[in-house]
Amino acid sequence: MSDHILVERTGAVQIIRMNRPEKKNALTRAMYTMMTEAILDGDADGSIRSHVFLGVPGAFSSGNDLQDFMAFASTGKMGTEVFDFLIALAGAKKPMLAGVDGLAIGIGTTIHFHCDLTFATPQSFFKTPFVDLGLVPEAGSSLLAPALMGHQKAFAFLAMGEGLDAAQAKECGMIYKLVEAEELETTVLRVAAEIAAKPPEAMQISRDLLRKPREEVVERIKLEASHFTERLQSDEARNALMAFLTRKKT
Ligand code: COA
Repeated sequence: MSDHILVERTGAVQIIRMNRPEKKNALTRAMYTMMTEAILDGDADGSIRSHVFLGVPGAFSSGNDLQDFMAFASTGKMGTEVFDFLIALAGAKKPMLAGVDGLAIGIGTTIHFHCDLTFATPQSFFKTPFVDLGLVPEAGSSLLAPALMGHQKAFAFLAMGEGLDAAQAKECGMIYKLVEAEELETTVLRVAAEIAAKPPEAMQISRDLLRKPREEVVERIKLEASHFTERLQSDEARNALMAFLTRKKT
């Protein structure tokens, strides 16, 4: 289980790698907890100056583990792991970068609204099927996406569940640059090290200024979470989750 998130440090850069390739990096509660701890620990550690999120070839993340969602839907008991992660994400002090190859679904997409620089390979694909699952947007995306791409694109993306290929994601400002797969990780790590080499206090204050108003984002995350928790127990969500979990593969 612990291998599903690998936390590694190279110089002043902390790498948080999602590593559950057999499930396309679907995120379990334990994985959220490990990522939360990594953000908090890295932020508290003066020798770390930037965070980097990575996945595996072909899958950044397929989003929340739908088995876990089904367990919430059936028991009505929602743990705090996802919420704690979202709050840590929104409150992170140090620059966050990401390198995406392939699938980026649900939180695998909305995490980038909190990243400062996301690099993606041309074959990456971003999608948020919240409504199709009977759910609502999360991670503050209902506030951050319209601010970034305008209401109509955000509606198509977050409410209609229309996917964005890498070029479209770049065009609407959700990612920074496209990089070929063989160069993805070296590029992200090089830029993370460049950021880490800059005066850290000025960097953190600048990032914080650019991220204002964070309180509003946290409030939105809480509002989304209250709907999300309720929605998870709806028939719409239960039926959609059951359809995924019992689908027949061809
Ligand atoms: N939760 C739990 N398991 C997941 C998952 C998720 N979010 N995404 C993928 N998996 C599992 C699949 O069930 C499958 O498991 P199995 O081999 O034991 O049957 C395995 O990962 C591989 O996925 P598969 O569907 O065979 O790969 P694919 O390339 O055909 O499709 C996806 C990949 C991601 C498009 C598809 O799995 C999918 O739509 N997943 C759900 C994504 C989602 O809705 N996320 C939540 C967003 S809020």
